[in-house]
Amino acid sequence: MKNYGIIEKYKKYLPVGQATPIITLNEGNTPLVFASYLSKLAGENFEIYLKCEGANPTGSFKDRGMTLAISKACEEKATAVICASTGNTSASAAAYSARGGIKCIVLIPSGAIALGKLSQALIHGAEVLAISGNFDTALELAKEISLKYPVTLVNSLNPFRIEGQKTGSFEICDYLGDAPDFQIMPVGNAGNITAYWKGYKEYKTGGLSKKLPSMLGFQAEGACPIVKNKPIKDPKTIATAIQIGNPASWKSALEARDESNGLIDIVTDNQILEAYKILAQKEGIFAEPASAASIAGLLKLIKNGYFRKINTTNKCKIVCILTGHGLKDPERAIKSVKKPKLLRPNIKTILKEIGY
Ligand code: F0G
Repeated sequence: MKNYGIIEKYKKYLPVGQATPIITLNEGNTPLVFASYLSKLAGENFEIYLKCEGANPTGSFKDRGMTLAISKACEEKATAVICASTGNTSASAAAYSARGGIKCIVLIPSGAIALGKLSQALIHGAEVLAISGNFDTALELAKEISLKYPVTLVNSLNPFRIEGQKTGSFEICDYLGDAPDFQIMPVGNAGNITAYWKGYKEYKTGGLSKKLPSMLGFQAEGACPIVKNKPIKDPKTIATAIQIGNPASWKSALEARDESNGLIDIVTDNQILEAYKILAQKEGIFAEPASAASIAGLLKLIKNGYFRKINTTNKCKIVCILTGHGLKDPERAIKSVKKPKLLRPNIKTILKEIGY
């Protein structure tokens, strides 16, 4: 049986040819879940959908870009790839490199990546190097090494990453029959907002969708260089995936924002944590904190009346991208809720506790 991931499905729109070996884990085709609680909250003219990218093979959207980046690296006979990462890129690079049979080198900011992600990079056999610096420094180093040595950079500066990731917007259009009115997503290094916007534009140009969404990006308050319009030296947020002070795709994120008549705004860590719990407890979806920034942004915009000015005859469709799975960061989940009580193994004690 043939494996079937985003490259097979969207070959026509991707830079692949006969000679490209397809290194895939059957990524993509992730659920677009109708969010009943959030839709009700937004009002009767709204339909909110959640694109659950945590359902990808390594638990994040990075797999869409990595299948292409590693396939192309293998086509070009690269023997090694390198990336800097806040965790998910390294997990994905490590898995696809293992599958492609090439060496993977990972630079991570020491102590600043979630446990699940670190475990993935390690178990897939990557050479993981923790540096005493932040993501931005790690990325500078990875770039420099890739320029001087025969190692391919697989951060989103690699154009194949963006090409693969744009398939997320293709899937949304295929599922909804058109692009949504708004798309909300977290912004870190800003590759994903760049990729989605590219995808939406290509689908519209190809006649596969009629409209373009407004792109609404959210950064964490302590890591919001784009909103502040200047790099942040020491970015800080509980959403470690987007703890980035100097995004590589800054310029194209601004283009996506401005061409789409969208916005890039901030949410606080408290708003992220609140959204994180709402998602888990009202929609039944466990996404990592950075992904919850999408929902925190949605709630912020509902509250401040942003969508009120929207005037559509049909229902207004909003897609929120949930970029990574909640299991990536189990420590954060446990810190965010009450611990289980320890009880004696006695039925009376248990019944009393649960109110019977
Ligand atoms: N959400 C998650 C879960 C991420 O891991 C990232 C980025 C983003 C959102 C932001 O996407 O960078 O394209 O704007 N993670 C990178 C990494 C930086 O190394 O895993 P972006």
